[in-house]
Amino acid sequence: LPDPDVAALTGADLDVLLPRPRNESDKYRRGVVGVAAGSDLFTGAAVLAVGGALRGGAGMVRYAGRAAPVAQVRSHWPEAVVTQLDAPSIDRVGRVQAWVLGPGLGTDDWAHELAAAVLASDVPVLIDADGLTLVAKDRTLLRRAAPVLITPHAGELSRLIGAGRDAIEAARLDHARRAAAELGVTVLLKGSTTVVAEDSRPVRVNTTGTSWLATGGTGDVLAGLAGALLAQGLSCYDAASCAAYLHGVAGRLAADGAPLAAGDVASALPAAIRAVTSTN
Ligand code: APR
Ligand code: MG
Repeated sequence: LPDPDVAALTGADLDVLLPRPRNESDKYRRGVVGVAAGSDLFTGAAVLAVGGALRGGAGMVRYAGRAAPVAQVRSHWPEAVVTQLDAPSIDRVGRVQAWVLGPGLGTDDWAHELAAAVLASDVPVLIDADGLTLVAKDRTLLRRAAPVLITPHAGELSRLIGAGRDAIEAARLDHARRAAAELGVTVLLKGSTTVVAEDSRPVRVNTTGTSWLATGGTGDVLAGLAGALLAQGLSCYDAASCAAYLHGVAGRLAADGAPLAAGDVASALPAAIRAVTSTN
């Protein structure tokens, strides 16, 4: 019998949930995403997260980071509005409707301070990758009123809730639910299937993906995409479920039975959105 506490989204659900620009829309009202990601060591994560956000339908993407990722984001995405940070502050970045925090950010003091600044804002924040490592070391970062969506793989969740990686893999739904309850956040747990958990909501399980997605950087694209959906006004729960669905479809379209690179998944996002939405 189907478990009433587990639900899967269909393409028809996405057609209802996904925002479209209206006649009176402008780039600000369509959703402005802030991306705090990348470091001198990991510049690609910044490029991929910005790409996921732009191809995921953001009206504008504001990228903030250090010199090396700034140079890469500028050359890959002239569409992004880029702020080079000398101090770990978001004061100069301008208004955003949601933040994506963490891919390739590093875990040094500078990254910790930037994470604290982003989480001190009053808009929804998606935390991924190094952002999750920072939160695992300093749980007080999560003390905020606005919503938080975390997007760990099993290893990242393991550090957050102190459960073994194998235990998580063996009972992914239970651990995602437990993390959502304990941390007071929405959880998107990545893997061969993706589960989305939020307190007192059915767990959503997504199986649209393909194992070709198991390649470095696809998680960064997912973070940017989910951030774009948050900025467009979806709840953490709906943004996470829709992002997982579209990311999986984009992965299938990009792979088509052969290898893909993470950037290809971002490129395939518009086709994935087209495939599930009716006209207008
Ligand atoms: N089937 C379907 N989807 C999969 C599969 C699979 N077998 N394996 C992975 N995926 C999907 C996940 O669901 C997720 O959306 O690919 C994406 C991988 O995301 P991450 O695990 O965040 O990987 P990513 O960050 O892109 O790259 C890995 O991150 O944590 C570090 O040490 C890690 O350097 C490595 C890098
Ligand atoms: Mg990752």
